[in-house]
Amino acid sequence: MAGRSVSAQETDKAIESKVKHLLSQMTLEEKVGQMTQVDFSVIGAPVSGDEYSDGAIDQAKLEDALIKHHVGSILNAPSIPNIKAQPVDTWRKIMRTLQDTTAKTRLKIPVIYGIDAIHGATYTENSVLFPQAINMAATFNPELSFKEGEITAREVRVSGLQWNFSPVMDIGRQPLWPRLWETYGEDVHLATAMGESYIKGHQGNDFSAADKAPTCLKHYVGYSYPLNGKDRTPAWIGERMLREYFLPTFAAGVKAGAPTVMINSAEVDGIPGHANYQYLTTILRGELGFKGFTVSDWEDIKRLYTRDKMAASPKEAVKIAVMAGVDMSMVPFDFSFYDLLVELAKSGEVPLSRINEAVSRILKVKYQAGLFDPKPLPVVEDNFAAPEAIETSRQAARESIVLAKNDRNILPLKKDAKILLTGPTANLLSVLNGGWTITWQGSAENLYPQDKLTVLEALQRKSTGKVTYIGGDSFNAPIDIQKVVDEAKNHDVILLSLGENTYTETPGNIESLNIDQAQVDLANAAIATGKPVVLLTLGGRPRIITSIAMRASGVILAFLPGMEGGEAIADILYGDYNPDGKLPISYPRNTNAITPYDYKPTESFDVNFYTPLYPFGHGLSYTSFETSGLKVAKDKVRMGENISVTVNVKNTGALKGKESVLLYINDVVASVTRPNKQLKAFKKVELNPGQTESLSFTLTPQDLSFIGVDLKRVVEPGDFKVMVGNETVGFTVTK
Ligand code: BGC
Repeated sequence: MAGRSVSAQETDKAIESKVKHLLSQMTLEEKVGQMTQVDFSVIGAPVSGDEYSDGAIDQAKLEDALIKHHVGSILNAPSIPNIKAQPVDTWRKIMRTLQDTTAKTRLKIPVIYGIDAIHGATYTENSVLFPQAINMAATFNPELSFKEGEITAREVRVSGLQWNFSPVMDIGRQPLWPRLWETYGEDVHLATAMGESYIKGHQGNDFSAADKAPTCLKHYVGYSYPLNGKDRTPAWIGERMLREYFLPTFAAGVKAGAPTVMINSAEVDGIPGHANYQYLTTILRGELGFKGFTVSDWEDIKRLYTRDKMAASPKEAVKIAVMAGVDMSMVPFDFSFYDLLVELAKSGEVPLSRINEAVSRILKVKYQAGLFDPKPLPVVEDNFAAPEAIETSRQAARESIVLAKNDRNILPLKKDAKILLTGPTANLLSVLNGGWTITWQGSAENLYPQDKLTVLEALQRKSTGKVTYIGGDSFNAPIDIQKVVDEAKNHDVILLSLGENTYTETPGNIESLNIDQAQVDLANAAIATGKPVVLLTLGGRPRIITSIAMRASGVILAFLPGMEGGEAIADILYGDYNPDGKLPISYPRNTNAITPYDYKPTESFDVNFYTPLYPFGHGLSYTSFETSGLKVAKDKVRMGENISVTVNVKNTGALKGKESVLLYINDVVASVTRPNKQLKAFKKVELNPGQTESLSFTLTPQDLSFIGVDLKRVVEPGDFKVMVGNETVGFTVTK
């Protein structure tokens, strides 16, 4: 791997020989077991009704899995049907039981336990839960992503868990998709920067360290771009687009050292992710140089038969997937994969060499993660829910909230303002967090930590005036609109807290980005009172708010700011924090107006325009900034040279604040149509009023390249534009 130190290379060699030695002692069954991953429910003691399991393990079932079926990996929290976060101690107990049972197996190969620690340790009670990825992207602050990685890994490890199914490196260019918020937004450069930093924080230089853990890039590749917007439905991505928009984040993740990759649950161009040899083997291994192992997504090998009708039997499905390059199967409820693959190997339909290859990759990651020689778990004190970690999450939340509109400086509000707060998202913690929070769908409001603050509670804490709340105690509870209208006259401002309930994956599928009628009615009535209205939105997708936003005095887009989100919102509303978040997506004006910021010429030609409600990169502050003096070091650069760019940024307002300076380029004439602009660099700086800072950027040949007619990356000589703020400068690349 590029950039590995000499000692790391030596370690790699030592690991390779250990893997070889171990593999030589393994039976076929032991090997296939390593490739098998099952859900906790396969080893868990039965749950009664919909009672939550307390993590109890059925020892006989565990031995069946580990001793009889040689299972190599387990995932998920206890237990189907009600997966939910467990206390640290429960997790530690589960992990001890697994270790004790592993000790009874012939070769004592440790299990690797995987978990979706999507925005912090999702399934450990009271862990630090960060803003979701879409918010992290809005911070334009990779340092915060690094810290999120560090804190998440530490809390996962404190829980004894060993492997994180994160980060999502899919690009979010389809706003209907119910997992948009799990991505770092629509731009390749931004998503790359945030994802890379997360991986580096999570893994450090050596992920066998007691407080580090391996990451998993997902969902390779093209999963995020379903044509109809519904989860796990077809994407039609041509190879050029795949290489230009969807592969680079994964390439960067591989380069950053992520040792595992989870596979796209749907299909691209007619081929299911789990059957795609070209993607899983030719490109991932051959081109991206990935040396770790791939894991299927949930039940997806079976689905090649049950859903995709690509295989004529479950057995053929296993054969297709393994031969395409799937190394581990998230089966997840039985041992069918194990049984079928043993049969396929015995009959020679799957060659032993392929099984050896997959198992070697898995064992290698287990050695790299230190699982054969486990270090004591980090102590809970100082390493779990530490005040500094909570503060980091709160800072990330503050930096992730986008002030989209602020007419006549309606915001910040005075502390003694009389606020009428209403709307379905005003008094719930779940809607600040979204899916993958305590439970899969994140909707179990009763399980949320009582000491965390909703928007209402956070406002009440800070207010020296009056905060009146009119709303229900669940998302769908009807709101008394007449009461809102009657109460308006007793208040200075109406704060409308709208948005979405929690969801992820297929339960979050929708057919329209329109916000529901009940919320529109509430907003219309509030606006009709004539009192100034501030609109606050929470939720994972850009639901259509155009007519409300046009008439509101202020608009705050908070997306899913996490467990400290209520406080962060109050910090911004009252001006205790000067907002600096910027949109990592284009916020559509209408449901079908989903043109991205890096649109092609035809998308802004003749009758077509890029007219989102708020463009990518939009975000206001309580101060103002100006960029000026944009310069490229040379007018002409030779092919292959770097180009230096400088620009000044000044705080022209009266308050201290942070500004993200975004640098775009445009390749003026090219053999493949080029986007009007593409983000290639950004820097976030904090400036006092009147302060100016000079920023320098380096554009590399890679930044100027695109996927050419022959599907290879190319830089074409000719003119380029560089754009920052209102300025544009140019340079020419000569042969
Ligand atoms: C999701 C993955 C997740 C896996 C394990 C799947 O349904 O698509 O993102 O990692 O479940 O929970």
